[in-house]
This record gives sequence, C-alpha cells and structure tokens, in this order.
Amino acid sequence: MTATAVIGLQWGDEAKGKIVDLLTDQHDVVVRYQGGNNAGHTVCFDGEKYKLSLLPAGVLHPGIVSVIASGVVINPEAFLDELSGIENRLGKTSGDELLISDRAHVIMPYHLAEEAILEARSKDNAIGTTMRGIGTCYRDKAGRSHAIRMGDLLHPDLLKTRLEEIVSFKNVVLKALDANAPQLSAAEIFETYQKYAERLAPHITDTTSYLHKAIATDKKLLFEGAQGSLLDIDHGTFPFVTSSSSSGAGIHSGSGVPERAIGRLIGVVKAYTTRVGGGPFPTELHDEIGQHIRDTGNEYGTVTGRPRRCGWFDAVASSYGARISGVDHLTIALLDVLDGLGEVQICAEYEIDGERTTDFPSHVEELAKVKPVYKTLPGWNSDTTAARKLSDLPSAARGYIDTICELLDAPPAFISVGPDREQTITCD
Ligand code: GDP
Ligand code: IMO
Ligand code: MG
Repeated sequence: MTATAVIGLQWGDEAKGKIVDLLTDQHDVVVRYQGGNNAGHTVCFDGEKYKLSLLPAGVLHPGIVSVIASGVVINPEAFLDELSGIENRLGKTSGDELLISDRAHVIMPYHLAEEAILEARSKDNAIGTTMRGIGTCYRDKAGRSHAIRMGDLLHPDLLKTRLEEIVSFKNVVLKALDANAPQLSAAEIFETYQKYAERLAPHITDTTSYLHKAIATDKKLLFEGAQGSLLDIDHGTFPFVTSSSSSGAGIHSGSGVPERAIGRLIGVVKAYTTRVGGGPFPTELHDEIGQHIRDTGNEYGTVTGRPRRCGWFDAVASSYGARISGVDHLTIALLDVLDGLGEVQICAEYEIDGERTTDFPSHVEELAKVKPVYKTLPGWNSDTTAARKLSDLPSAARGYIDTICELLDAPPAFISVGPDREQTITCD
C-alpha cells in the first residue's frame, strides 16, 4: 500500500495541517483533492508559522511533489497570491514540484458575487460560509453548463466564447437576485484570467495520470483532507456543510486514486470540538469554559478570523465521522488546551426526545434537539506542552485519551500538545 490519508473527523480545523506536515517526509507526493481556499491549515516549525489555504503542506518541504487534484476548486488569484507568499519565504517552486489538475474547476468573480447575495438573503438561515465562492463554483460544476475547468484557461478562444455565454447569463441572475448587483464584463474577466493562465500554465497538467504513474512506480502518496467529515456534502450536517466530499469518501472522487490504494487513514480530532459558521452543535459551551478554550486554543478562523464556536468533545459526532471516513488510527490534537481544567467532559451519548442513542442524526432538526449525555472525567493541573511520550502525560490526560480512543474505536497514532512540529507524541 502506497498511500496515507489525513482526514478531519469533526467540523474542520482539527490540526490536519500539522499532522500532514509531520508525515510529509515519509512520503513523496502530497495531494489536496477537495475544497478550495475555504481551508486554512497552519503549520509551525523552526520558529516559523505558515498558513496554507490551497497549497498542500508538501510545498514547505523541498523535494516533495505537491498536487492539487481534480476535486479542488481554484481561485487563481488566491492561488497565485499564496504561492508568491510561500516563494518569498522558501524560494521558487517549479511546475514539476507543484501540479494543478486540468480537471479542477475555476472560481470566477460571479461565484463570489452570487454567494455574497445568497448569504445576505438567507439572514438567520445563512450557512455562514467563508464567502470564497466555494459552494457557487461547485454548484456550477454539478450543473455543468456554466463550469470552467483549469484546462480551459489554456485555450483562449474557447475560454472567451464560454465566458461571453456564461457572464451574460450570470448578469441576468445577479440582477434578478439583487437590483443593485454589479454587472460583470466578460471581456474584463477574460483579460484578467488570461494573465493568470500565463502564470498557472507551467503547473496545469493531468494530475490523475500523474498519480496513477506515481502509484505504479511505488511513490508514497499522502492525501491532505480539508474541512472535516461532519462538513461533508453527503454525510455531514446538511445544509450546514461545505460543498465537497470532505470525509474520506472524497479521496477517490477528488483525485482519481482508487480507495484500495489507501493503506492507512489517520483521523484527526481536537481534544474538544469547534465549529465555524451556522448549524447545530450539541456540546457547544456558551460559558466561561467555552471562552477559556477559545482563548487558550486561539480558536479564531484562519481564513475569515471569525471566533470559532467551542465545546466539549462530542464522541457521538466524532465516531460517526470516524465510521464514514474509515479510520485506522487517530490523532488527538490540542490536548494542551484543556490543561488546568478541574474536570473535563466527553459527550458519550445523545438524548433526543427522552431516548438515548449513539447514532448521529441525519437531519439538523433532530441534531438541534440533542441533549448531550456527558461522561465527567478528572482534569489535570499540569502543563502538557513539553510531553514527548505518553508516559510524560499526567494519568488523567492519559485516561482522557483512552476514553476518546475507546469511544471512537481506534488506536492513537499521535497526540499533539502544541502547535509546533516538535510538540507531538508518537504512540507505539
Ligand atoms: P486544520 O485546518 O485542520 O489544518 O487546522 P487549523 O490549522 O485551521 O487549526 C488548528 C490550529 O491549532 C492552528 O492554529 C495550529 O497551529 C494549532 N495547533 C495544532 N496543533 C496544536 C496543539 O496540539 N496545541 C495547540 N495549542 N495548538 C495546536
Ligand atoms: P479547514 O480545512 C472549518 C465551514 C464554513 C461554513 C461551511 C461552508 O481549515 O478545516 P464554505 O465556504 O466551505 O461554503 O462554508 O463550512 N468551513 C470550515 N470550517 N474549517 C474549514 O477548513 C472550513 N471550510 C469551510 O465556516 O460553516
Ligand atoms: Mg483550518
């Protein structure tokens, strides 16, 4: 088996970026396969902090090939800005080191304009998206007739004709949605995207074919999930989800690599739960403990800066995430954030309409009714950030980890006790 995958089991921001970075040196190719610049992955090492959004963590490692595969939606401007930022710090990235799928779909200005209007009109029912045009781009991908793929950017005549058709349609829609909506110019968009295309061209290729050849030559692939299993379009807390398959289910469809090539899937959870945007969140804490977790864990969105909603670890939700994604090992991250709490709680069951269950509801109306049934565990009063092996941890913290692993039915691979690469316990 040549491939490893790192997938979030909650609502995103589980520290996937840190774990992918940690594993990258044992692999040859790092692959992003869904989502877009809604993701924000922070990686810290050697006293430096890197914030990645579209670029796979492989770009931080010389000699590693990074692939943005077919299931990703790409905003070329955001991509080029991010790449310039990384190149200013780490030097030039060649076309051979960073590949973009010619099948990946392109985020266009009308996607951003449409999303701004839709979210504003939804008011109380707004999804609370990152406003990056992700959902509107995936909608055009599914709708097909108004979609533009990265490969199309390399064919100016085709792109020009397609944009004329699409933009005239989009202008009608935008105007109907909001009489004050700005009208877009196909010619201006074409000119701007032609400039992007020149800079993107060295990177655009058939990544599916590249990945198949990499597997055939025993290259080791590392799949970097974005978002989390509970934000999955099919299996998450619909409609408060993202628009891609952000559980393990998306690896195959988003990269063209068959599921059987994945030898090891590492599910990442936080030692507690966070969520950004709308939607029910059974274990959310609106009290001083929630604020303490937010402050200590620096729980503010990497992409939008929004305060993340914080709560106790929800084993019903996370084990559902683990079952969807098919987890071999777990990583429990941000354990240190719970240091110093007198006691800690884990939601082990849900009570819905007086009935107890460990099933995760399929509808948010049911999820909104959940009363969490907590297991209360002793907290630990010491600083865990210097722990480098399990035996360095206080016994209450080890008990907490054991309880999570038992409830999620998977053994631990890593425990993360701080943002730095070094602040990691590797479990045997
Ligand atoms: P991702 O989207 O899953 O990659 O996660 P993010 O990077 O958005 O959010 C995780 C945040 O926690 C980042 O700011 C990381 O630097 C930080 N982080 C990662 N692991 C740990 C940890 O074990 N302890 C603490 N305190 N912070 C961590
Ligand atoms: P990473 O990869 C946390 C959330 C948004 C919103 C919903 C839909 O850093 O874990 P979208 O813009 O995708 O249409 O928004 O999904 N969301 C995330 N939450 N981490 C992320 O990515 C997220 N990407 C999207 O807040 O609730
Ligand atoms: Mg994040």
